[in-house]
Amino acid sequence: HIKYKKAWKQNIIYEIYPRSFKDSNGDGIGDLPGIISKLDYLQSLGVTALWLNPIYQSPDIDHGYDITDYYSIQPEYGTMKDFELLLEEVHKRDMGLIMDLVLNHTSDQHPWFKASRSDKHSRYRDYYIWRPAGADGGPPNNWSSYLGKSAWTFDEENQEFYMHLYNSTQPDLNWDNPDLRESMYKMMRFWLDKGIDGFRIDAVNAISKDQTFPDSDLSRLQSNGEPFIKNGPYIHDYLQEMNEKVFSQYDIFTAGEMSYISEQDVLDYTHPDRKELSMVISPEASTLGNLPEDEFQQKEWTLDDLREVMQKWQKNVGDPGGWFGLYFSNHDQPRLVNTFGNPVEYRVQSAKMIGTMLHTLKGTPFILQGDELGMTNNPKLHSIDDIKEQQALAYYDVMVNERGEDEEKIMQRIRRKARDHARTPMQWDESNHAGFTTGEPWLPANPNYKEVNVKEQESDPYSVLNYYRRLIEIRKNNPVLTYGEYKAILTDHSQIFAYLRLFMDQTWLVLLNFSEEEAAYSLDPNDIERLADARLLIGNYKESNEIIDLKSGNLKPY
Ligand code: BGC
Repeated sequence: HIKYKKAWKQNIIYEIYPRSFKDSNGDGIGDLPGIISKLDYLQSLGVTALWLNPIYQSPDIDHGYDITDYYSIQPEYGTMKDFELLLEEVHKRDMGLIMDLVLNHTSDQHPWFKASRSDKHSRYRDYYIWRPAGADGGPPNNWSSYLGKSAWTFDEENQEFYMHLYNSTQPDLNWDNPDLRESMYKMMRFWLDKGIDGFRIDAVNAISKDQTFPDSDLSRLQSNGEPFIKNGPYIHDYLQEMNEKVFSQYDIFTAGEMSYISEQDVLDYTHPDRKELSMVISPEASTLGNLPEDEFQQKEWTLDDLREVMQKWQKNVGDPGGWFGLYFSNHDQPRLVNTFGNPVEYRVQSAKMIGTMLHTLKGTPFILQGDELGMTNNPKLHSIDDIKEQQALAYYDVMVNERGEDEEKIMQRIRRKARDHARTPMQWDESNHAGFTTGEPWLPANPNYKEVNVKEQESDPYSVLNYYRRLIEIRKNNPVLTYGEYKAILTDHSQIFAYLRLFMDQTWLVLLNFSEEEAAYSLDPNDIERLADARLLIGNYKESNEIIDLKSGNLKPY
C-alpha cells in the first residue's frame, strides 16, 4: 500500500518527537492519539514516512532513549491499541511508519540490568559489560562517556564497574553475547510483525566495542573520532547477522544513526551487496555550527566547511553504492534556522533557503517537526533551571560543580546548544501553549508561537509551510533530485553555495545565498550552455516567479 516502499530512497521522512507533537488529554505531554489527530496535516505536507522517537516504557531520564520494556508503550503516550490504530491510520494515508530502535543500551531500571547487577550468576549478567577496577583501583580504562564523565561507573554491590557510553543510567549492552543478540532480534520481529516499515537505529555503530578495552589515545581521539568505541571489531558481523535474521525477512528500510564515519564506512554499512543497512544518517552536517574548535567559542563555520562535508557525502557516496540521509537537524541539535540562517531578520527567507538545500541534494531528506514552519531556538532558555534535557544538565554539573568553571560561560554554551531548543512544543495555532496542550506543557512553547504556527501559515501562500509543500512536491515528481549527480559550482564564492544536479538529459541549478548581504554571481560558460533553456522552478522570495537571467545575477539575502 505504500508507493515508496520499493523506491525507499525517494522517501521524505518526517521526524516526530512524540512528547512535543500534540497532546490529546491535557496532561501537557504529547501522545499517540495526538499524533493520529494530526495525520491529515502530515499527509497534506506530502511527506512519505514518519519516524517516531522512542515511545517505549522508560523512566524518561533521556526522554525515551533509556528503555525499561521494549515491548510496551510508555503510558503517558498511550496504549498498544493506540499504537496499532496509529499504524493503521498512517498506512491508510499512504505513508510509512518507522520506529526508533535503541540497541546500544537500556535503562538501568530494565529487568535485565537489575538481574545482571544483583546476581553474578544470572543469565542476564553478561547482557551488560562488567569489569573489575583498573590497576590503580580506578575505572578499567580511560574512556569517557558523551556526558563528560568516565564511561565506567562503580557499583558498590558488585565491587565492579559497568560500562556506559551515555549516562550512568544507560548501561551499554554486551553485543558479544549471542543470547543478548537473539533477544534483540526477537524484539525487532515483534514490531516488524505489527507491520511497521522500518527502523531508525540509534547510535548503531557503537554496539561493538573492543572488549580488550585499550586506553584511548587522546590525540588520536581528536583527529579520528573514537577508534575503539565506534565501528568496533565485530560491528559488520552483527549487522550482517541482524540483516540475515531480521531485516531481510521483511519489506522495510533501515536508517542507522552514526557519528565518526568515513566515506568508506558508509559504503561498508550500506552497499546493497553487503546486506547490512539501507542508509546511514550522520549528524556531521547538522553540527557544522557547533564544531568544538574551542570548548567555549562557537566556531563560525564557512561555506568551505559546508562544501567540504557535501563533497564527501554527495560526491563519493550514492547510487548504486552506499546511501545516506540528508540530515541537517534533529532532536539533538539546535534549530535549523539558528544553525544555518538568521532567526530574527530573515527567519522566513532563511528557513525557505535551508529547506531548498534539504530538498535538492542527493540522499533521503529528514525533516524535524516544526522545521517546515521555520521554528527557531527558544530565547527563553536562560538559566539551568529552564533546561530539561540530560546532556546539558550533565555538562553543567561536570563543568560548574566539579571543575569550577565560570557559570555564565557554561550557560552561554548551553543556551546555544541545548537539545531543548529542538524539543519545544509543535506550534499549531495562536491559542495558549501554541495549541499543543490544554494543560501545562512539559516544556514551555517558544514565545514566537503567536506569529509562527501552522494555522497562520496555512492561509499564507508565501509561508514557509507552503514553500515546503512545493519543495516536497517537486522532489517527489523529479527523481533527479534523489539520484542525480551532484556537481559543486562557484566553489570560491564566499556567500553562495551552488550546485548542479545532473541526471540523464536534465540539468538542475541550485543557488543559495547563505549571507545577509546581496550576492552577485556569474556562471561558468560551460554551465550556461547546459542551462540554455532553463526556467525558474522555485525561489524563496515572492517575486522570484519573475523570469531571471540565469547566467549572472544578484541573489537577495538568504
Ligand atoms: C539520540 C539521543 C540520545 C542518545 C542516546 C542519540 O544519538 O539521538 O537523543 O540521547 O542517542 O540514546
